Amino acid sequence: MDCVTMEKIVSLAKRRGFVFQSSEIYGGQSGAWDYGPLGVELKNRIARNWWREMIQLNDNIVGLDSAILMHPRTWEASGHIENFTDPLIDCKQCKSRFRADQLPQENRTAKKCPDCGGELTDTRRFNLMFKTHSGPLEDSTSLIYLRPETAQGIYVNYKNIIQANRLKIPFGIAQIGKAFRNEIVTKNFIFRTCEFEQMEMQYFVKPGSDTEWFEEWKKRRWAYYEKLGVRMDRLRWHQHGPDELAHYAKDAYDIEYLFPMGWKELEGVHNRSNYDLSRHIEFSGKDLQYIDQDNNERYVPFIIETSAGLTRTLLMILCDAYDEEEVEGETRTVLRFHPALAPVTVAVLPLMKKDGLASAARDLQNELKEDFTTDYDQAGAIGRRYRRQDEAGTPFCLTVDYQSKEDNTVTLRFRDSMEQIRIARAELKDRLRQEIKAYRRFA
Ligand code: GAP
Repeated sequence: MDCVTMEKIVSLAKRRGFVFQSSEIYGGQSGAWDYGPLGVELKNRIARNWWREMIQLNDNIVGLDSAILMHPRTWEASGHIENFTDPLIDCKQCKSRFRADQLPQENRTAKKCPDCGGELTDTRRFNLMFKTHSGPLEDSTSLIYLRPETAQGIYVNYKNIIQANRLKIPFGIAQIGKAFRNEIVTKNFIFRTCEFEQMEMQYFVKPGSDTEWFEEWKKRRWAYYEKLGVRMDRLRWHQHGPDELAHYAKDAYDIEYLFPMGWKELEGVHNRSNYDLSRHIEFSGKDLQYIDQDNNERYVPFIIETSAGLTRTLLMILCDAYDEEEVEGETRTVLRFHPALAPVTVAVLPLMKKDGLASAARDLQNELKEDFTTDYDQAGAIGRRYRRQDEAGTPFCLTVDYQSKEDNTVTLRFRDSMEQIRIARAELKDRLRQEIKAYRRFA
């Protein structure tokens, strides 16, 4: 993993305003994080990029934004009330809490705490859904849940969408939104949290064609990460064994990323069969069959799901972009984001504050604002300012100096190579657009 560690990522994320602990002034809220100015920008860009890939580039995939709060019968039908549990074990001595399936076998057998050696409790099942009440009465009739996945909002709307959009199978429905899970173990920063965001796409296919579409979506999701410029040697497939398969899945593969703490799931591609729709038919009493008018057929479609964590993808992008190198005896920390994802695309820096350079740089920033996300920085030596932008992952810096006043040129500095070229202001926007389009981190 060369230079990247989770400690460095957490520290940089806080220092530069990517991610803060939630409610930090009260000691923090476990499993919840806040996205600062650079973090929210990065998150929005990842989301936009995924949306573009799903909706803009596919004629037969449409979007949805369904509610977090759903009728509680949804979760009976989906099987989450019955099956969405983790095995929980506590240490009687130090009170640490573990997921039984993540404890080393020797600790499970000896019922011994890996932290303090104390005695462990028996395993008990713990449902991961957050519960709350709708309305003033806090009894069982008002019990509702915060959704643990966005997928169910798509299934319960699929007929509405077919009717409104006159879609024909195969077609997909995509959604980005918050999901909540009462996770027992929430270490590793934003990797596993209680409140997170998902980017899910459900692809409705004819039964019998599901295996073919499953393979197709595995290919497309792999190609997506290649396009994003992720280090492909840090990605691999993991097929779920029979004991790992979710209650709804006929087959499932994870795309795993080599995070600093090891290989971990980034995204799941699942063949959910017709489990979800069949269960919603059973529990709602509504006919959710697809009517194929061309072939005079009716059937319950199978569903191929691609499910990525947005906040987990953000962590992956941070880890993947993180780099350090020795420059003139100092360590340069740089986030090598793809320019399409970088929170700031171009920073404008006056060489000096005086002699009208600051106001000329402001003018330039204003000129660029309509087309790019920009930053302006006049504080400190120019070398220090470049380093700050490197840490924020800004791919391009423009410096306005004395020559700029004479010939209307500026210095364009490239983050990755630190190369600097002189360029006429009139050519700037086109050049930046070309650089973004042609960007390849790895030649
Ligand atoms: N609809 C299927 C589903 O939710 P999942 O494997 O449980 O499947 C899909 O979750 C993705 O959501 C994971 O690959 C991960 O990226 C993200 N995810 C799941 N639980 C998470 C958590 N507690 N914190 C952050 N991301 C999570």
